[in-house]
Amino acid sequence: MTVLGLESSCDDTAAAVLRRHGDGRVEILAEAVMGQNSAHAPFGGVVPEIAARAHAERMDALAEGVLKDAGLKPSDLDAVAATAGPGLIGGVMAALMTAKGIAMGADIPLVAVNHLEGHALSPRLTHELAFPYLLLLVSGGHTQLVIVEGVGQMTRLGSTIDDAAGEAFDKTAKVMGLGFPGGPAVERFAQDAKDPKRFALPLMLARDKSCNFSFAGLKTAARRHWDSLEAPSDQDRADLAAAMQSAIARHLAQRAGRAMEIFKGRFADLEGPLPLVAAGGVAANTAVREALQTEARAHGFEMIAPPLKYCTDNAAMIALAGVERLALGQTDGLDAAARPRWPLDQDAAAQDPASGSGRKGPKA
Ligand code: KG4
Ligand code: ZN
Repeated sequence: MTVLGLESSCDDTAAAVLRRHGDGRVEILAEAVMGQNSAHAPFGGVVPEIAARAHAERMDALAEGVLKDAGLKPSDLDAVAATAGPGLIGGVMAALMTAKGIAMGADIPLVAVNHLEGHALSPRLTHELAFPYLLLLVSGGHTQLVIVEGVGQMTRLGSTIDDAAGEAFDKTAKVMGLGFPGGPAVERFAQDAKDPKRFALPLMLARDKSCNFSFAGLKTAARRHWDSLEAPSDQDRADLAAAMQSAIARHLAQRAGRAMEIFKGRFADLEGPLPLVAAGGVAANTAVREALQTEARAHGFEMIAPPLKYCTDNAAMIALAGVERLALGQTDGLDAAARPRWPLDQDAAAQDPASGSGRKGPKA
C-alpha cells in the first residue's frame, strides 16, 4: 500500500510518500519539509496567519514534488492522508484541503489523521516496535504520557496542566533574547554554561501523585532570575539556559518514571526491557534524552527515540498513520472537518478538565 501524507498543523509544511510492504515493513519513498522559522523569528513565536499563508502557498508544490521524486502519479496511490488536527486551524486546512483535492481528482480514499497519532506512531517508521509501548510526547503544543496499544488505542496517563514543555523552552528563550525557536537556542547557549547550579529552579509537582506536568512555575522562576540580573552577560545567559534545560529534563524524567511504574503494573507479563518512546520536538534535546535514558534504565525500560527529523513535525508519520488506518479500513469522507482540538484519548481528556481544556472542550 502506498500513501501520500501531508502535514501543516503548526509551522512546518511537509509531504511524504510511504509504502507498506506485505510483511509490514515500511519504506519512505520520498519526503520533503519546509520550515518557517525565519518568518516567525521577528515575533518570537508562531504567528497563525503567517503560518497559514505560507502553508497554502507551498503545499501544492511540495505534494507534487514528493510524488515526482517517488516516480508516482496520484492515481498510483492507495490513499492520501492529511493531518486534520489538532493544530492551528488555518494551517490544518492547507493539508486537508489539498488532500481532499487529490482524493477527489484521483478517486482514492482520504484518511484524516490526528497529528498526535502521527507522533505516537513515528518510532515505527524506523524501529521494529511492537505494541504496547509507553510514549512521552513532548512538543511545542503538547506534553503527554500515553500508553499506545494500537492504532486508535491510546490511553493518556498524564498531560500538562499549563504550558507544553516546548513552550517553556520557547517563552524562556524569548525573555532571555536567545532567538526563535527557543528550544534549540536554549540548548546551544547551555553548552557554554560554567555553573548550571548557579540558578536554583524548582522540581515541579514533586509530591503530586499523578503523571501530569506543569511548567508555568519554572518559567516564572527563570524569569525572576533573569530580572534580577542587572546587565546580563553571555555567561549569565548560558548558566540560566542550562539551569532551565536541566529543570525541564528532570521534571520530564520524574513524571515519565511514574508512568513507567503504571505501565509495568498494567503489562506485568511483558518481558523487559520495556519500551519508552520519546517523540516530539523537545525529544531532540540531548539533556532531555539523557535524563530519560537514565530514568528508563532505573525502571527496567529502554528509551527509544525516532531520529531527529521524525521527532519534529514531518509528513512521514502522517503517511504512516494513514497507511495503518487504511489497512484497518478506516478512511474518511470528503466532508472530514479540520479540528483545532482533537484529543488522542477522548475519555481521559473529558474526565480531566484541568489538562489542556478550554471553554470549547479538551484540546488534546
Ligand atoms: O514537534 P514540534 O516540531 O512541533 C510541534 O509543536 O508539534 O516541536 C517544536 C517544539 C518547539 O517548542 C521547539 O522549541 C522544541 O520543540 N524544540 C526543542 C529542541 N528542538 C525543538 N526544545 C529543546 N531542545 C531542542 N533541541
Ligand atoms: Zn507535532
